Amino acid sequence: MTRQKILYQCQSCGYSSPKWLGKCPDCGAWNSLVEEERVSGLVVQKTASPVQLSEISLTSGKRAGTGIGELDRTLGGGVVMGSVVLIGGDPGIGKSTLVLQALDGLSTLGKVLYVSGEESPEQVKLRAERLGVRSESIILLPETSLEGIISVVEQIKPKVLVIDSIQTIFSLEISSAPGSVSQIRECATRLMFLAKRHGIPLFLIGHVTKEGAIAGPKVLEHIVDTVLYFEGDRGNPFRILRAVKNRFGSTNEIGVFEMTEKGLREVDNPSQLFLSERPNSVPGSVVTVALEGTRPLLVEVQALVTTSSFGVPRRTAIGVDYNRVNLLIAVLEKRLGMHLGNMDVFVNVVGGLRIDEPAVDMGVIGAIASSFKNMPVESGIFTFGEIGLSGELRPVSQAEARLKEAVKIGFKKAVIPLGNSRSLKAQEIEIIGTGSLEEALQILFF
Ligand code: TYD
Ligand code: MG
Repeated sequence: MTRQKILYQCQSCGYSSPKWLGKCPDCGAWNSLVEEERVSGLVVQKTASPVQLSEISLTSGKRAGTGIGELDRTLGGGVVMGSVVLIGGDPGIGKSTLVLQALDGLSTLGKVLYVSGEESPEQVKLRAERLGVRSESIILLPETSLEGIISVVEQIKPKVLVIDSIQTIFSLEISSAPGSVSQIRECATRLMFLAKRHGIPLFLIGHVTKEGAIAGPKVLEHIVDTVLYFEGDRGNPFRILRAVKNRFGSTNEIGVFEMTEKGLREVDNPSQLFLSERPNSVPGSVVTVALEGTRPLLVEVQALVTTSSFGVPRRTAIGVDYNRVNLLIAVLEKRLGMHLGNMDVFVNVVGGLRIDEPAVDMGVIGAIASSFKNMPVESGIFTFGEIGLSGELRPVSQAEARLKEAVKIGFKKAVIPLGNSRSLKAQEIEIIGTGSLEEALQILFF
């Protein structure tokens, strides 16, 4: 009698164990182990032969433009032939819309195949109508079985393949349910081999779980070449496409979109957009410049400082690092004598943006001080700079690019670190360089 090959696999990280466990020892998730059939090895590949690095020609690095500039930039300059791109995001954020628009651009290459496991052809057609996508080269396949998809691909040989979404696809050779780790891993791997063999780009759409990770995240992120996250508030039309892994480009790049009734529109000037609803002369609002990849973005940082009604004051940071905000509050207390010990402090970056850069320290600290003192900052003024623990203002990278962006939007005055202002050429903006936080805040509040 042959023993049944059963193993228990964690649905959030892919850890496997021969017996059931209540808690995954790898990722710590509770009750996440599910009985699955053991998958015996992957497709056996032809054994590779060694080659000289200098002899390798770069034919596989060919790229194709999607016709969506923001998407191309996030990918590192178009999609690489034979690469696998995973697009993750909350349901309803616009993933299907984005790929359909991209397929329209890519259909200039020839036939492109859109596999929809979630929506009926009529639903996809309705969306295409709405988006004005009329290309005759887009072929729709409402299919969820992996074997079915592979046979269609072998038959029609498309130039691009889209799977919407990977969680709905299942292989008949594996008994576990669609969406489980072993199904996702097996399907993604076999689709990857298929794409590499045909030298076509493969887009996989993946859902994000409540905890904010693509289901079976570790499994998928290893397999694919590029991981893009589509972020944004559903109540807010702005969407940000962020590269979190990219074998063919930078991971700092972002693309900014606006969801309109005719689909996603690229935003050429995000700074303008993020500042468009800024209140005039209200305490607690400061404009700063963050660098996202190679691109400077003007953002508004808001803070609200109120008397705490509980023993322990609350600190909330949305869009910036929580620990960094606590550090800046400590600097304000110790170096400038502001008593924030019994105050609740809320900090928010407007527009749903997330910034991870010390250059916005000045924006955060300026907003907190402005709200604490109840004094507004002049509207034509902006600031950036890193704050040191002794209350000094430290220079940041790419000051010139940051200033140029602000000049474009019409800012008149900049309060920046002395270390940066010294090395700058004359600009069409009044630049005030200072080395101390105290002085910088004095200039911000007249
Ligand atoms: P969709 O691409 O279906 O999201 P996902 O595939 O990520 O689940 O888009 C969902 C939302 O976008 C839906 O709530 C409607 C909205 N939408 C627009 O506002 N304008 C449009 O042109 C389209 C196609 C969708
Ligand atoms: Mg969808």
